[in-house]
Amino acid sequence: MSHSILITGAASGIGLALTRHFAAQGHRVIACDLQRPQIDAPVRKLAFDVADAAQIERAMAQVVDNPPDVLINNAGLQHVAPLEEFPPERWQQLIAVMLTGAALLTRATLPTMRRKGFGRIVNIGSIHSLVASPYKSAYVAAKHGLVGFSKSIALETRDCDITINTVCPSYVKTPLVDSQIDALATRHGLTRDQVIEEIMLKPMPKRQFIGLDELAGTVEFLLSATARNITGQCITLDGGWTAQ
Ligand SMILES: NC(=O)c1ccc[n+]([C@@H]2O[C@H](COP(=O)([O-])OP(=O)(O)OC[C@H]3O[C@@H](n4cnc5c(N)ncnc54)[C@H](O)[C@@H]3O)[C@@H](O)[C@H]2O)c1
Repeated sequence: MSHSILITGAASGIGLALTRHFAAQGHRVIACDLQRPQIDAPVRKLAFDVADAAQIERAMAQVVDNPPDVLINNAGLQHVAPLEEFPPERWQQLIAVMLTGAALLTRATLPTMRRKGFGRIVNIGSIHSLVASPYKSAYVAAKHGLVGFSKSIALETRDCDITINTVCPSYVKTPLVDSQIDALATRHGLTRDQVIEEIMLKPMPKRQFIGLDELAGTVEFLLSATARNITGQCITLDGGWTAQ
C-alpha cells in the first residue's frame, strides 16, 4: 500500500533517514522542517514551525491534493541545564515543539485519515519517554507527555483503522547527539570517545548506538496492516536500558 507520509524534522538525523527510507520505497513523502529541507530524494518539501498552528494550517492547504494518511512527529530539540538555570522560554519551546507540535499536527491530519478510513501516527519519542535523566527536565516532560497524549488519541480513534504509537530509542548518532557529545566533553574534561563509552553507552547493556535502519524498520512495521491493533503503545529500542 502506497502512503502519503508527512515527516517533521526531515532535514536532519532520524527524520532525514526516514524520509530517504520511505521515498526509496515509492511512498509520497512530504518532508517538513523549519527551513525547506535540502534532500536528494523525490519528495515534496515544506517549511513550517510545528509549534505554530497558523503555519501548520497554511502548510496543510498546500497539500490538499495529496493529504497525508501517515504522520511522523519527529521534530525535536534538546536543552541540558538544571531547572534553576533553565531559561523559561527555552523550557516552553521544548514542550511547544515536541508535545504541543505533535498534538497540533495530529489534529490537522486526523480529519483526512478518518475520511480515508486509514491512518498511522508515529511519534518519535525517546528512552526519555519512559525514564529520566537529570538536567533534561523539559525534554523528559515533553517525551513522557507524548505517551499520555497518544493513549488519549488511541481511544479517540478506536472506531477506525487509525493507530498512534510512540517509538522510544535511546541514543542514535545524529547531529542532536553529536552536539551533546561535544558539550559533555567540555563540561567533564573528557575526550569524545570517553563521553560515548563512559556516559552515553553506559546505561545500555548492548553498548551500541541505535541505528537509523532500526528506526526505519520499526516505523515501517507500525505502518503495516499487521500492526493495526497496536495503538497507544511505546515501542522501545534501548539496548536493554530499561530491562535493568
Ligand atoms: N538522536 C537521538 O539519540 C535521539 C534519541 C531519542 C529520541 N530522539 C528524537 O528523535 C527526533 C529527531 O532527533 P534527531 O536526533 O534526528 O535530531 P536532529 O537535530 O538531527 O533533527 C531534528 C530536526 O528537527 C527540526 N526542528 C526543530 N524544531 C522544529 C520546529 N519547531 N519545527 C519544525 N522542525 C523543527 C530541526 O530543524 C532538525 O532538522 C527528536 O524528536 C528527538 O528528540 C533522538
